[in-house]
Amino acid sequence: MRNELSRRDLIVIGGTVGLGLAVGQTANAFVLSPENQPKMEPKLVTVPTEADIAKALKTDGRGISAATHKAHLTLWQGYANKTNEIRKALAELDTDPAKGNQIYSVTRSLKVNYAFAYGGLINHNVYFDTLGGEGVIGGDAEALIKEAYGTVEKWKADWKITGLSSRGWVYLGYDHDEKRVFNYAGDAQDTFPAWNNTLILAMDVYEHAYYLDYQTARAKYVDAYFGLVDWDAVNARLPK
Ligand SMILES: [Fe+2]
Repeated sequence: MRNELSRRDLIVIGGTVGLGLAVGQTANAFVLSPENQPKMEPKLVTVPTEADIAKALKTDGRGISAATHKAHLTLWQGYANKTNEIRKALAELDTDPAKGNQIYSVTRSLKVNYAFAYGGLINHNVYFDTLGGEGVIGGDAEALIKEAYGTVEKWKADWKITGLSSRGWVYLGYDHDEKRVFNYAGDAQDTFPAWNNTLILAMDVYEHAYYLDYQTARAKYVDAYFGLVDWDAVNARLPK
C-alpha cells in the first residue's frame, strides 16, 4: 500500500517528479500527501562535556575559577540541548502558510529561539576554545589587531570598554570583505552579528561568567581574562 512505502521509496518517487515534468506531465499525479512526504533527519550538534573545558580548568587560581567554569558548562550544555530540541521540532514543522504569523506562531517561536540557542552554542564554543592560555599574543592575530587598532594596548582598551558597555558578549570578528578585525558588542546570544565575519575570539560578560570570582566587578574579570587567552587557538580560527 502507498501509505506503507519506505522513506527510501518515497525519495525515489520524489526523484521521478522532475522527470515527469520534463516530458510535460503535470506534477499533481506525483504529489505525495503530507503524511507521506519524506522527512529530513535533523543534523544534531555535539553537547559539550567537562572534557571541553579541561583547558580552561587548568588555569584555576589565575583569574577565573574552576567552579565558575564548571557552572558555566551547564549553561553551555543548555544551548546545545536546546539547539537540538529546536532542530528536531523544525524537522517536523507544519509549513502550511496559513499557520505562519509574525505576532505569535510555532514557526516564529522556533526560529527566533533557534537564533538564541545556536548563537549561544557557537559563542561558548569560541569562548572555551580560546581560554586556558598564557595571554601571550602573537601570530597573524597580533598583526591584524595592530593593523586595525594601532597597538595591542589600544586594542585591549577598546575590548575592555566594549565589554563594560555590552550586556552579554564582546566578539573579535575577522571581516572577510574588509580583511580586518573588529571588536563587536553583543547584548545577547543573538544580537548584532555582522555578515561575512569569522568569530575568532569571544568574551562572555554575562554575570555567570565572573560573579563567583568578582561579584559585580566586571572590569577585574576583563583584566584577568586577558591573561588567560590562548592566542594559538585564536590564530587557528583565522582563515588560512
Ligand atoms: Fe555564558
